[in-house]
Amino acid sequence: MHVLTVLDHPNPNSFSHAVAQSFMAGAEAAEHTAELADLNAEDFNPLWSQSDIDPDAPGADLSDVSAEQERIARADAVCLVFPLFWWGMPAMTKGWVDRVWRWGWAYDQLDDPEKSLQRPRTGVLLIPAGARSDEIEQEGYGAALETAWIKGTFGYFGLSPRKMELLCGSTGSEPRRKALLARSFEVGRTLPPPAK
Ligand SMILES: Cc1cc2nc3c(=O)[nH]c(=O)nc-3n(C[C@H](O)[C@H](O)[C@H](O)COP(=O)(O)O)c2cc1C
Repeated sequence: MHVLTVLDHPNPNSFSHAVAQSFMAGAEAAEHTAELADLNAEDFNPLWSQSDIDPDAPGADLSDVSAEQERIARADAVCLVFPLFWWGMPAMTKGWVDRVWRWGWAYDQLDDPEKSLQRPRTGVLLIPAGARSDEIEQEGYGAALETAWIKGTFGYFGLSPRKMELLCGSTGSEPRRKALLARSFEVGRTLPPPAK
């Protein structure tokens, strides 16, 4: 399979970068090809604007969005890596999602979150999170994020099968971080094929 990893972190020495590298190493160990979209290094513009609403208006230019869509088009699996910020996506990832997975390209109706205009692709969320797993479970954050992202977002994207891995305690001890990187490698190595 061809695996696209979309990474959001400006610091090349961050844990998120290490997670993306481990995931891609796992995918390559399983003989998949890996492509990285490093949104900060590539200076992607995440700001949704009038051009996104009316791409046919004079001066509108969505060539950056088209380039991202071409990347997705050649991928059989898509993995998003970003640090959990305020129980949500950091602005760069949010803008990439908002702008690239457009109405008319990714979806064209709102009544069925399982219907997409895109062919099925395997979908993965690998999310470093500072909180501990017991806190995330007790407060219901994990279930809320699963509903919003796995059902409400990846469903519309046509990503299937799909999974979310919260890498809890990402700011913890070295052994903890090593275990989370090993988990990221395994997720890459054991990627299932897209649904038929
Ligand atoms: C602005 C900001 C908001 C954050 N919000 C959360 C949060 O809501 N839940 C959580 O578990 N961790 C939160 N964190 C912690 C980050 O998820 C954690 O620092 C990150 O995963 C570490 O990865 P990195 O080294 O790649 O930055 C937040 C950190 C920052 C800077």
